[in-house]
Amino acid sequence: MLKGKCVLVGITGGIAAYKICELIRMYKKNGANVKVVCTPNAMNFVTKLTLQNLSQNEVYVQEFDVKDWKPEHISLADEADIMVIAPATANTISKIAQGIADNLLTSIACAFSKKMIIAPAMNCNMWNNPTIQENLRILESRGIECLPPDSGFLACGYLGKGRLCSIEKIYNETVEALRYSQKLAGKKVVITSGGTIEDIDPVRYISNYSSGKMGFALANVAKDMGAEVVLITTKPFEAPYKIVKVKSALDMQNAVEDEFETSDLVIMAAAVADYRVKNQSEQKMKKGVNDILTLELVQNPDILKGLCEKKTHQLVVGFCAESENLLENAKEKIAKKGCDYLIANDISRNDIGFSSDDNEVTILEKSGKIEKLEKASKKVIARKILEYIYE
Ligand code: CTP
Repeated sequence: MLKGKCVLVGITGGIAAYKICELIRMYKKNGANVKVVCTPNAMNFVTKLTLQNLSQNEVYVQEFDVKDWKPEHISLADEADIMVIAPATANTISKIAQGIADNLLTSIACAFSKKMIIAPAMNCNMWNNPTIQENLRILESRGIECLPPDSGFLACGYLGKGRLCSIEKIYNETVEALRYSQKLAGKKVVITSGGTIEDIDPVRYISNYSSGKMGFALANVAKDMGAEVVLITTKPFEAPYKIVKVKSALDMQNAVEDEFETSDLVIMAAAVADYRVKNQSEQKMKKGVNDILTLELVQNPDILKGLCEKKTHQLVVGFCAESENLLENAKEKIAKKGCDYLIANDISRNDIGFSSDDNEVTILEKSGKIEKLEKASKKVIARKILEYIYE
């Protein structure tokens, strides 16, 4: 499965370092060329000889062991298809997040521009430390994938979250990441996310419960698949691609239309408000004497429908959130909007949909074909949607 791929394994100084011997064995067994780089502290937990025998390659620890004209941190970064840092200590996570390059591993991480996965392992109090969590968020916002630790008994005697996730999980994520990489190379993918915000006055607005998570997952996965990504969102998000922050449906329409001509795929995952307030008040509205206040609403343009009417080479995908008669409504909607695919999800369920991290969707095609995707994390669903569309 990994034939022809070079996996760069980074090991830092934590007790879970010994488990990485098994991970290297798995990569090797499946055909990968494995290069290992350790921090000096990792050498307290595993020996160079063990890692060298398992990887069948030289193991790198010190910086400036220059044997070639290219410094090692650059040649190792160039050679690898993916970098996997496991276990990743709080110290190394924080250094990478802040751009500190004080040993070979952190220098490579600084120079690495391809897919990077980190699997943290540490004491539960260190894991819960707000500084460490903030640094993890920084790494994730730069496209680095974090495989969170498991809960259980920790080597330091504590019971809590901090154990390195399973070796199988790290292995499977590596395989998946390599399988998906470059599948969308050369494609421009535009994704909308979040619920639009329609002002009533400078203080109040009309909106909906959309969290934007499905759109974020789609954008991150499209980036991992090698696409040029533009995320048009009403919710704040940080990522290593173009992000256009919008508020209302009209703002979103302008932003999408600006990107449309040059795009190959547009996914309207946003929950666009169907109506906006007709006469937005410039000043804060005052409570009147009447018990009832009537707001006059006007219909917003249907962005998705408009795109479908003028599309040339683009693939256009809509989402539909329904609280009843999911398939019936979805079939009607794909015909009405004219999009190539419609991703339908049931928002009446608490375990999927809006703020949840999981989703379960049905993909409808213009041709009438229907495919159900079983419940999974929004990231896995995003991968399956993009893979379905392009395969
Ligand atoms: N959509 C859009 N512009 C709108 C309303 C919706 O582009 N003014 C898009 C959404 O981004 C989504 C799809 O259309 O991709 C379906 O949205 P949904 O709210 O389910 O459908 P509506 O057309 O609004 O129909 P209804 O609210 O009546 O179910």
